[in-house]
Amino acid sequence: MKKLSLDRILQSQGFGTRKGCRALIEDSEVTVGGEPVTKFKAEFDPEGLEFTVFDEPWIYRQHVYLVLNKPANYECSRKPSHHPGVHTLLPEQFTWREVQPVGRLDHDTTGLLLLSDDGDFIHAQSHPKHHQPKVYVATLAEAADNTLVAQLLAGVKLIDEPAPIAAQRAVLLDTNHIEIVIAEGKYHQVKRMLAAAGNHCAALTRSEIGGLKLAELDLAEGEWRYLDEHDLARLNGA
Ligand code: URA
Repeated sequence: MKKLSLDRILQSQGFGTRKGCRALIEDSEVTVGGEPVTKFKAEFDPEGLEFTVFDEPWIYRQHVYLVLNKPANYECSRKPSHHPGVHTLLPEQFTWREVQPVGRLDHDTTGLLLLSDDGDFIHAQSHPKHHQPKVYVATLAEAADNTLVAQLLAGVKLIDEPAPIAAQRAVLLDTNHIEIVIAEGKYHQVKRMLAAAGNHCAALTRSEIGGLKLAELDLAEGEWRYLDEHDLARLNGA
């Protein structure tokens, strides 16, 4: 990769304004490859660059791809109104980098949430044409039987939607829990589908996106990590 000055590198990684990054470097808060660097014009090849800021280790990343196990009572909106934003669960560098959720989960929905600052990735993952299957487990307010499954598979009519919407898959786990797979990401889709089928969603969690399964990620609620190559391949169905 083309060499870049250290202040530019830090700025690209979310350490604040150029001025702020220069101050960090001049205040001896930055090391690169284990060596202190106090000249902000010092140039480095950013590819794989290892550096520390306030003794915390970082690796240069052109883009970040994250997975968060979203707890309830966090909003996916950039300007949350009633609850803290999911970005408050992440290092503040990611807010500077404008990392944003790939699609939204309701404030009371828990589970698998992807975030990135790569617009192409966000677009590809969330575009309806991509048909990325998303698996949800809903807790039902009313005990159900396979009539509900049949209704969801046949398609239910949602207000403002011209045609009925069907689940790709639906499996009753027990009388009060259903696993439901949808390809779209319409507003409150699962809750509205369950309401349209005469039930009510008491709690909702997203357990899978594409081939990526929350249960295999070993993330406690509120925890996040970078998606690795393996995860990205799983997302795309590998
Ligand atoms: N469907 C919903 O109703 N809510 C979500 O958060 C996600 C899917």
